[in-house]
Amino acid sequence: MLRIGLLTSGGDCQALNATMRGIVKTVLHNTDDQVEIYGFEDGYQGLIYGRYRKMKWKDFSGVLTQGGTILGTSRTPFKLLDTPEADGVQKVPAMKKTYKSLKLDCLFMLGGNGSTKTANRLSQEGLNVIALPKTIDNDTWGTDVTFGFTSAIDVATKYLDEIKTTASSHGRVFVVEIMGHKVGWIPLYAGIAGGADVILLPEIPYDIKNVVKAIDSREQRGGRFAIVACAEGAISKEQAAMPKKEYKKLVAARKYSVAYEIADEIAQLTSREVRVGIPGHTQRGGTPDAQDRIFATQCGVEAARALFDQDFGVMIAKVNNKMVRVPMTEVAGKLKYVDPKSDLVREAKLMGISFGDD
Ligand code: F6P
Repeated sequence: MLRIGLLTSGGDCQALNATMRGIVKTVLHNTDDQVEIYGFEDGYQGLIYGRYRKMKWKDFSGVLTQGGTILGTSRTPFKLLDTPEADGVQKVPAMKKTYKSLKLDCLFMLGGNGSTKTANRLSQEGLNVIALPKTIDNDTWGTDVTFGFTSAIDVATKYLDEIKTTASSHGRVFVVEIMGHKVGWIPLYAGIAGGADVILLPEIPYDIKNVVKAIDSREQRGGRFAIVACAEGAISKEQAAMPKKEYKKLVAARKYSVAYEIADEIAQLTSREVRVGIPGHTQRGGTPDAQDRIFATQCGVEAARALFDQDFGVMIAKVNNKMVRVPMTEVAGKLKYVDPKSDLVREAKLMGISFGDD
């Protein structure tokens, strides 16, 4: 009898349940159901405090299209891993204890960068851990894509589509702030799919004068409105030149998010009416799109295969359209940024989308 544990950690996304379904159905299908399944509640917290549910095939049936996570999630910051919980519980020893007391053969951890660092630590502590690349941000190193990403692009794109009609009616400039944490993958893809005139990414610092120039040139050609898709981590050239500490302070002191700052600057330099739109956490919500359902299923199957091969300490990834396993030690803690020289950025620039850099 195999004994497996599952947990979902960090910010949620649309395809977590689809991924767990992929793991569980593959494991059950290939072992004549000789598996005990333990689902830990609220991420690593469930593992720390031994909060788990024994689960069956039926728990994973009908969840392919269900967003969020049936297990619940939470953030357990890696940098606080060796700091005891408020009640004095030491996290790493507690997690090892739960794992060992349940005699688990493997723990499947669905999480992003920080969570994978913790998974890597547990693996180094001797637990059999397999990580699966979750995050709408698509910033996980070692995989071309993460699950959650394409669904988030869809939500942000639809938001841009809907903003356009009202922007057009009123002849306004809209600054739409798109998630992605420190990277610009969602704003880049959604910006192109949603026909944004300007896309501002953390990887390409902007000059507000260039942003206004792009808006003006659109107006001169007869455009009634303009859409600026800005990443939540968008950064001006001046800010990028600051010492990191000073920039962090500036961000922490912001009363409102970056889109409002950019909208104010645009309003000061033009006579146009400017508004802000923020899809926010809807980008993590709702049902996974078809691509995410397929990728989530592939991730689940590959993770189960890694278990059968006793290949632990790995993260499941997709590289050049192939499912692969990469050692967690190679990926944990590294961020995957948009390459400002990538084909997609170059193509967008060639058809006139401004990134505010020139
Ligand atoms: O990592 C996913 C993400 O949605 C980021 O895009 C965003 O910066 C962050 O999580 C928001 O975190 P929270 O849900 O804690 O507000």
